[in-house]
This record gives sequence, C-alpha cells and structure tokens, in this order.
Amino acid sequence: MITRTLDLDRPSDARVHDYLLGGGSNFAADRALARRILAKAPYARLEALAARDCLRRMMRTCLDQGVRQFLDLGSGIPIAGSPHEIAARVLYVDNDQIAATQGQLLLAGSETAAMVHADIRDPEFVLAAEETRRLLDFDQPVAVLMLGVLHQFGEHHQPAEVIRHYTDALAPGSLLALSHFTDEFAPKPAHDILTVLPDCPRPALRDRATVLSLLGDVELLEPGAVPVADWRPEPGDADLRTPEPLTFALLARTAPTPPPHPNSSGI
Ligand SMILES: C[S@@+](CC[C@H](N)C(=O)[O-])C[C@H]1O[C@@H](n2cnc3c(N)ncnc32)[C@H](O)[C@@H]1O
Repeated sequence: MITRTLDLDRPSDARVHDYLLGGGSNFAADRALARRILAKAPYARLEALAARDCLRRMMRTCLDQGVRQFLDLGSGIPIAGSPHEIAARVLYVDNDQIAATQGQLLLAGSETAAMVHADIRDPEFVLAAEETRRLLDFDQPVAVLMLGVLHQFGEHHQPAEVIRHYTDALAPGSLLALSHFTDEFAPKPAHDILTVLPDCPRPALRDRATVLSLLGDVELLEPGAVPVADWRPEPGDADLRTPEPLTFALLARTAPTPPPHPNSSGI
C-alpha cells in the first residue's frame, strides 16, 4: 500500500535505512528506532554500508555484462552513489513518501532517470507507469534490483508471484540482483532486531535456499548467494565484513538462454 499521508512520528524503513547510511532525510522517530536496532545488532550500520557497497559492485558487474538499464525496486532515498550516478538509465520505485518526493525532486527534468511512487507488489502498475515505458526498453536486457526489500513481503504477499511478474517481462540476458535479511549466519542479532521493530509489518527472515526457491528459472552467477561483504569484494575496497552478517546477496541471469536444440546445428 503506498502511503500518501506522511506520519513523521512513525519510523519508516526508508528513513531508518537513510540514517544508518549517514543520510539527512530522517526524523527523530527513525533515529530512535535505528538506535534500538544498533543496541541489539551493533554491526547493523556496517552491514547497511556493506550492502550499499555490494550494490555498486553488482551494478558494475551488470554493466560489464552489457546491461545498461536498471529497474530499482524498493530503491530507498537517493543518496550519493545511488544507481543513477553509475548507470545509463535507472527507474527507481519506492512506496515511501519521502523517498519518492526526494527522488522526484532530484531527478526532475532528467532524461535518463526517474522515480515512481508505487508499491512494487503491484508489478502491473509499475511496468505500465509512464516513466517506466519512457525510460526502459524491455526488448533489451534490464537489471532488476530488489535489494533489502523482499524480506518485507510475507508469504501472503506471494513473493514468488511478484518476482515472476517482473522477470517474465524481461528480455534474454536480463539480470536480477537481490539481497535479503536473514538469520542464517547470525541468528541472535537477527531475531533481536525483530523484538524492537514496530508490530507490523514484520520482516520475513529467510535462508538462502528459501529465497532461491522463490526465483523460478534463473541462473545464479558466481559466487552464488553470500553475505553482502563477500559478494565479489574488490582489491582496495574498505573491508566491511562483520562477524555477524545479516544480509546475503545474489546476482542471477533471468530467462537463461536455452541450450541449442540437438537438431538445430544447421548441418
Ligand atoms: C532497506 S531499504 C533498501 C534501499 C535500497 N534498495 C538499498 O539497498 O540501499 C528498503 C526500501 O524498500 C522500500 N519498500 C518496502 N516495501 C516496499 C513496497 N511494497 N513497495 C515499494 N517500496 C518498498 C522501503 O520504503 C525502503 O525504501
């Protein structure tokens, strides 16, 4: 559901995340919740920074694979280093009022990037939006980013169906980048975080096997699903690994090109 009314007394996922990243688009309630999270999981800020760094590496990998268009689902509040500073064409989508407004102000007049205020659980709306059609050419490969957002969808939101709706729209050679909150590596801080979050919605802590089972027919690229700081670290990068990883990341090729039919060699 998209929030059209702005309640600054209730913390928002986007603004808490912005605070953890050192951004300025957050308010007292967001900072208070972030501090409660940090009291339970002291590495949560480092983890947020590591996830952001992983986004940058994943985007470069997508560009290296020749994919130049990005659909960033649950993009958060645009900050320095956001995808539009790296890639040729970017469509951001977020249901948070502040994220959407900041994005729309920042990108007003841009011919290569835009922000849509929408709930990504409504893929038909997102894919048909005027900005989506203007910016993204679905006859060419697109990289879909679902970073730090899928855990917001419980089973009743039918996450596999939502993902399939997007991947079905993609041309061969497209990519799906995903990161997910998990209790697989550090169960205690992951569960402790849940105890300080507002009642609803509760994030779904999933392990890698469960998330992979939601993705349908995709080809996982190296190194598979690993803690965000371990996803293709590059020499010279700051070491953002923590003893308590809370998020894993993966990059997969969607709509893998089928192997040639035995009788299609042309001989
Ligand atoms: C933890 S932040 C991650 C931001 C960014 N993807 C990143 O990795 O840095 C999650 C974002 O997803 C957004 N979000 C959560 N549920 C959403 C939904 N159903 N539709 C659109 N955005 C959503 C939140 O508002 C928030 O901005």
